[in-house]
Amino acid sequence: MRIYSRILGTGSYLPENRLTNADLAAELAQQGVETSDEWIVERTGIRARHFASDAQGSSDLATEAARKALTAAGISADDLDLIIVATSTPDMVFPSVATMVQHNLGTAGCPAFDVQAVCSGFIYALTIADSMIQSGSAKRALVIGAEIFSRILDFKDRTTCVLFGDGAGAVVLEASEQPGILATDLHADGKYKDILCVPGHVNRGGILGDPVLKMDGQAVFKLAVGVLEDTARASLAKANMSDADIDWLIPHQANIRIMQSTAKKLKMSADKVVVTVDQHGNTSAASIPLALDTAVRDGRIQRGQTLMLEGVGGGFTWGSVLLRY
Ligand code: UT7
Repeated sequence: MRIYSRILGTGSYLPENRLTNADLAAELAQQGVETSDEWIVERTGIRARHFASDAQGSSDLATEAARKALTAAGISADDLDLIIVATSTPDMVFPSVATMVQHNLGTAGCPAFDVQAVCSGFIYALTIADSMIQSGSAKRALVIGAEIFSRILDFKDRTTCVLFGDGAGAVVLEASEQPGILATDLHADGKYKDILCVPGHVNRGGILGDPVLKMDGQAVFKLAVGVLEDTARASLAKANMSDADIDWLIPHQANIRIMQSTAKKLKMSADKVVVTVDQHGNTSAASIPLALDTAVRDGRIQRGQTLMLEGVGGGFTWGSVLLRY
């Protein structure tokens, strides 16, 4: 009998401070940086983003999302035997955000670690959790994507600072004989490391290099459109399914144009794509679980439906998870 990883519950959290495009444009104008709501909406579909307070770390956002996912799943933190956090913006160099979340949830003992695959991080983390559940080494896993990208943005660079936001999303998985995750597909190609990166790092008590996000937007755009179709098709092939079997496409929320183009390639109508990028911008590893939780809670996603989750980001990394909800 095959063991599946089934989603028991989802949760998400967005920090209180919400900035519309107009709010952000007004703040940037004070520093002589020119942008507009029209440009941001037309090129990206983003209308607003949330920024964490100085007092918050990614672990705080992750903990809020985790609490909601645990409540939705109807289990307690002590029932977990695995915690994985996908993040590129950890509170500290170490220890991991996952161990902080574990402590915040008032539990101890189970393995807890972070995964760093930038905007594909949640897909990587979900795939690792699924492998551990299938192998029998875990029965109940908490998988979180949490980011505070506002800390690594250059607010003098209008080509990047309008695109990203902060947030967290979480799922609780349980080993089940009922279908859950049907297929997964992961990839990376390090030759593209320079098109999306934060080159600076901690060195001997200071920062060496530029600790802000650098992106060649057009190069990322072109690569993203191609690999998102490829990885969706690869997961479908592994599950002997076709694009017609997908009820909901939940792509990484970076740019509405990338999502629409992927849907078109998969012959899916736009109303089958869960879009939340308009409300929180690109939240990197948090964007897919944020979109998933939104569509679960507003009733669009129903039990028994087939979901295609897919991510793409720095590294270059990309991948997909096909699942029965
Ligand atoms: O999370 C990982 C995945 N990341 C992504 O998927 C991002 C992928 N890339 C993109 O989404 C798009 O490439 C961007 C949204 C980043 C840029 O859109 P674009 O249509 O490729 O614009 P562009 O870079 O070609 O810029 C067009 C113009 C330029 O002006 P000129 O040279 O034509 O005069 C830019 O200087 O838009 C200008 N521009 C802006 N204008 C107002 C760039 N940023 C802004 C801005 N406000 N914020």
